[in-house]
Amino acid sequence: MNFKKALEERTEYANSVINKYLLKEEGYQKKVIEAVNYSILAGGKRLRPILMKETFDIFNGKGEVVEPFMAAIEMIHTYSLVHDDLPAMDNDKYRRGKKTTWLVYGEDMGILAGDALLNLSVETALKAFDIDFENKNLSKALKILLNKSGIYGMLGGQVLDVELTGKKIDNKQLDFIFRLKTAAMIESSMMIGAVLAGADDNTVSQIEKIGNKVGVAFQIRDDILDVTGDEIELGKPVKSDEKNNKSTYVTLYGIEQSQKDVDRLSSEAIDIMKSLNIEDEFLTSLILKLVGRNK
Ligand code: IPE
Ligand code: IPE
Ligand code: MG
Ligand code: MG
Ligand code: MG
Repeated sequence: MNFKKALEERTEYANSVINKYLLKEEGYQKKVIEAVNYSILAGGKRLRPILMKETFDIFNGKGEVVEPFMAAIEMIHTYSLVHDDLPAMDNDKYRRGKKTTWLVYGEDMGILAGDALLNLSVETALKAFDIDFENKNLSKALKILLNKSGIYGMLGGQVLDVELTGKKIDNKQLDFIFRLKTAAMIESSMMIGAVLAGADDNTVSQIEKIGNKVGVAFQIRDDILDVTGDEIELGKPVKSDEKNNKSTYVTLYGIEQSQKDVDRLSSEAIDIMKSLNIEDEFLTSLILKLVGRNK
């Protein structure tokens, strides 16, 4: 398999799916729609929809019912970035290789564009019912989508992240933050793919574990790249954590140990795949590539 080509194809597909669910920039609300489209079309790896579709395919999912969920998860993710960059949070000016949404459209529109993306994500996911009304897995998938992005998921992680900014934190707090702010959305992506394809509960909970390990590894690598990365390649500022005086995986454990943990968690994720007899060359390669990603 040519991994680069396979990734390009999947990214292109994810982009085309997202595009289907975006709104026309018109009406008195034009400004906020522009800000929404600017944020979501700025780029981004589309990792979450790609993981969702791959997991859907692994469990022989059929049809287009996964598509509204692919768009929805990217909308939630994008909203989390738009709000994460706000002056009241990480106060960053550069994202996905462009000026951050609040910097271009103002803080007010930055807040509203994030809210709009969150609301639109639910409106979009609900369109799955238009595609396959009888599918009893849809409500399960919706529950995962909302739960993993809310107080007991991504948002909850962001809460502790900002609350403990500038403070010394212990490994339990850091673990909580990573598990929620980042891993929850990766878990959600993969679980929804599996659920929509009809995987049973036991399998879905194993998939959740894979997502957890991939997600925590992803955030550790993000913390490493905040120190060692290249701003142009990353498309976002380096040293943002230091600027904000944040305790990170790197400040807690050092770069070398951090990278070791990225490697370990990723191979543990692959071990769980093997135990489920999942043979998916693309997913295995993707997990292995993320270990050394530079963006
Ligand atoms: C950035 O996520 C926020 C983190 C959870 C570290 P990504 O690295 O997936 O950002 P995009 O979507 O590619 O811009
Ligand atoms: C944020 O973590 C994760 C989110 C839920 C948005 P970071 O604050 O480290 O993400 P970046 O580095 O700004 O992308
Ligand atoms: Mg942050
Ligand atoms: Mg940030
Ligand atoms: Mg970061």
